[in-house]
Amino acid sequence: MFEKITGLFNRQKGIDDENKLLQAIDRNKLPNHIAIIMDGNGRWAQRRGLPRSLGHRAGVESLRNVVKLCSELGVKVLTCYAFSTENWKRPEDEVSYLMDLLVEYLRKEVDELHSQQVKINAIGRLEELPHQAQEALKAAFRKTANNTGLVLNLALNYGGRSEITDAVLHIAKALDDKQLEIKDINEKLIQQYLYTSGMPDPELLIRPSGDARISNFLLWQLAYTEFWLTPVMWPDFKRNHLLQAILDFQRRERRFGGIIKK
Ligand code: FPP
Repeated sequence: MFEKITGLFNRQKGIDDENKLLQAIDRNKLPNHIAIIMDGNGRWAQRRGLPRSLGHRAGVESLRNVVKLCSELGVKVLTCYAFSTENWKRPEDEVSYLMDLLVEYLRKEVDELHSQQVKINAIGRLEELPHQAQEALKAAFRKTANNTGLVLNLALNYGGRSEITDAVLHIAKALDDKQLEIKDINEKLIQQYLYTSGMPDPELLIRPSGDARISNFLLWQLAYTEFWLTPVMWPDFKRNHLLQAILDFQRRERRFGGIIKK
């Protein structure tokens, strides 16, 4: 009985906090692009005596909530780090669980995402993913291709270094084929050869779980991004954490290497 009342009280408090945060946020100054390193699933599970896989499964729920909130708020792009080029080093069963979870997520969520006008996209060396994952991605891309709402960018088999390497290879090939000349090479051109071509750079990077590393994520694009770190593990990351991150972002002074005249 007591637990039931505490639960209800906490839920009401969460809603009150959310309303306060929503009122404090300036809708005209939302970050256009938010990037998230969804970290801490394994530790979340281990602390509960559960297998790591259940931490990843719980992480999907946080992903679902964050996508919905970004979509409601009108954020343009959300990039979530779901599997890095280094994650293949994990035990085979964890890797295959993650790949199955991806397929399950795409199949189960695509209709809901479609109804929210979410456009599903992915960045990374997708051609190296298991066949089933590639097929599920292609189906999700096809279905949501014309949506005009949030772009959900799933970083899969993604590495910032391999992205830059791929861009260099493509530029070198274009030079070789005489489609480009050396004088054409500048920052704008390099951006066009990244997986995120055509997207704004992230303005806000969120990393839960207490680690303060970039972990080979969006190395080029994060040049002037504001970082928001929290000890909360990804499966415990709630709507209010995202709202707090956005509010803190709006209170930062962004100078881009210059100075602000007062
Ligand atoms: C890092 O936590 C997380 C991952 C490598 C996977 C992220 C995947 C999800 C959140 C599932 C949803 C994504 C899909 C497939 C759509 P960790 O395992 O490194 O945690 P730890 O640092 O505590 O061990």
